[in-house]
Amino acid sequence: MDVKKEEDGYRIFTDTNTIHAKYVIMASRYPIINAPGFYFLKMYQQTSYLIAGEVTEELFSGMYINSEKPTISFRTAKQGNSRLLIVGGLDHKTGTNETIGDRYKELENIVKKQYPSFKRKYQWSAEDCISVDKIPYIGEYSSVMPNMYVATGYKKWGMTFCYLAAKIITDKIMKKENEYEEVFTSTRFEPIKNKEEVKNMLKEVTYSLAIKRLAIPEETLKEIKVGEGKIIEWEGKKVGVYCDERKELHMIEPICAHLGCELSFNSVEKTWDCPCHGSRYSYDGILIESPSVKDVHKL
Ligand code: FES
Repeated sequence: MDVKKEEDGYRIFTDTNTIHAKYVIMASRYPIINAPGFYFLKMYQQTSYLIAGEVTEELFSGMYINSEKPTISFRTAKQGNSRLLIVGGLDHKTGTNETIGDRYKELENIVKKQYPSFKRKYQWSAEDCISVDKIPYIGEYSSVMPNMYVATGYKKWGMTFCYLAAKIITDKIMKKENEYEEVFTSTRFEPIKNKEEVKNMLKEVTYSLAIKRLAIPEETLKEIKVGEGKIIEWEGKKVGVYCDERKELHMIEPICAHLGCELSFNSVEKTWDCPCHGSRYSYDGILIESPSVKDVHKL
């Protein structure tokens, strides 16, 4: 996937076709074109966990979220003639998985304090893009690419911000004023206001891109247990190995296809996650989440 500027618009190259367009809107959750927007320098991703199930106690109406840490939200959803309780939270930066434990079980323990009859029926995780100043980027993708727009960094408020992004970008294309556009200007670059976040991002990228990639892992193939994924040393190379329930081994090159950071194994979801910008891959290397647009090498 690539986009090239032409005299009268843009040419978009996909795996199978090319498309010509006067206006381009990149609404791929995490922007998948790296330059010249450089959104990977000003955003990171967070993974949150959700469970849904039935209870016999009376349910509430509305949606609730706490203000303390860890963040937990409670809401309900209709399913046939019954209502399900949905509880989410316990987020962490994507790719920093070494100590996450079983977050679904943890969530269930929290729910059971209020709803002892809770029976878990479903579980899933969600990934969200977050800008360093916590405000979404909506508007021009880059000051050197006119008529190309971006909408990203919704910080878990996707249903709200996607409506706003549609309105702001439509108004821009129609040359109308929009009273909110200034707040979300996507070409702003003021991460310095949030020094702590920027420091953490740089630390993670440096570690995953350079230090971690050079280090030779201590683990060997013999140490991988059923259901576990690890990076091991195999004939002088680093290999990401996952051992499934049938004791079959799945091996990948544990290097992210986006910008080359070393992947970490997410033991809850059985995926390989990238700590730099949050791309995710299945245990056998198939791409699940952007900004990467390619699978990693299967070995
Ligand atoms: S997501 Fe950017 S290097 Fe992996």
